[in-house]
Amino acid sequence: MGNGVSALDPAARRVAFVTAGAGAGIGSAIVRELASENWDVVITDAHERRVGELASELSAAFDREFLGIHLDVTDYDAVGRAIAVAIEWRGGIDGLVNSAGWNKLEPLIEMSRETWQRTLDVDLTGSFNCMRQILPVMINRGGGSVVNISSIAAWETSTEHGAAYSAAKAGVLALTRVAAAEVGQYGIRVNAIAPGLIFNDFLTKVYPQEFFDGYAERRSRVGRVGRPEDVGALAAFLMGEKAGYITGEVYGISGGVLPNA
Ligand SMILES: NC(=O)c1ccc[n+]([C@@H]2O[C@H](COP(=O)([O-])OP(=O)(O)OC[C@H]3O[C@@H](n4cnc5c(N)ncnc54)[C@H](O)[C@@H]3O)[C@@H](O)[C@H]2O)c1
Repeated sequence: MGNGVSALDPAARRVAFVTAGAGAGIGSAIVRELASENWDVVITDAHERRVGELASELSAAFDREFLGIHLDVTDYDAVGRAIAVAIEWRGGIDGLVNSAGWNKLEPLIEMSRETWQRTLDVDLTGSFNCMRQILPVMINRGGGSVVNISSIAAWETSTEHGAAYSAAKAGVLALTRVAAAEVGQYGIRVNAIAPGLIFNDFLTKVYPQEFFDGYAERRSRVGRVGRPEDVGALAAFLMGEKAGYITGEVYGISGGVLPNA
């Protein structure tokens, strides 16, 4: 890439652990933004091939190593093993982004117990599995920061048939708030991001076409749908020192679709 990043002192880099970091959407945008801000990134994802491809691509582009680990966040012990590999790699972990999410739309009165459970397992318990095991690593390291990817679905109802997803993403906000209160004393900040529609092709398999039709014109206040890079920039900001006085917060990023002000 020739951006000069590799010339910087490796000791100045911090280590970020990102879940679902190799998808087409928000996760990989966060990884790329952190990479460009000089973080060493442990890219984890349940999709084995894409993990390897993204780690190789970034290692070549930045002329330094990025670590890719195949990881399903619902597997508590596998999360522990991935953390051990990350510590072996760079000696510790300073940042965690919980981006893994899963969603299947079903009306509540028809929802299968599998859909309910899988959604809670990936979106909420996956974040617990990582925080429970990485926060002690950060405490040992003397501090750190966590960014949890929630959704405006935690508050809104216009996305119908997403009861499990909305409940899980609301749970992520509560987890964020309580964690921030508990670990602030160790120099660790915990925040959440609640995106609105951030387009990627995969979403067209989850949501009906009507959901996308005219979205930019009808709902967005900035005339477009969200891009993964929009969330990547906010996540990198919250992870970094410039956000040092921010913890326990949630930032909406929805192009004004669901403003909080
Ligand atoms: N795209 C949106 O409009 C939107 C809006 C609000 C919130 N979000 C949230 O943002 C996050 C990223 O979503 P995205 O749509 O940008 O997709 P993405 O492409 O960043 O993420 C999909 C990735 O998640 C991985 N994944 C799925 N289950 C996993 C598991 N159990 N363990 C590890 N990895 C797993 C997949 O392998 C895939 O690579 C999710 O938490 C999602 O709920 C997305």
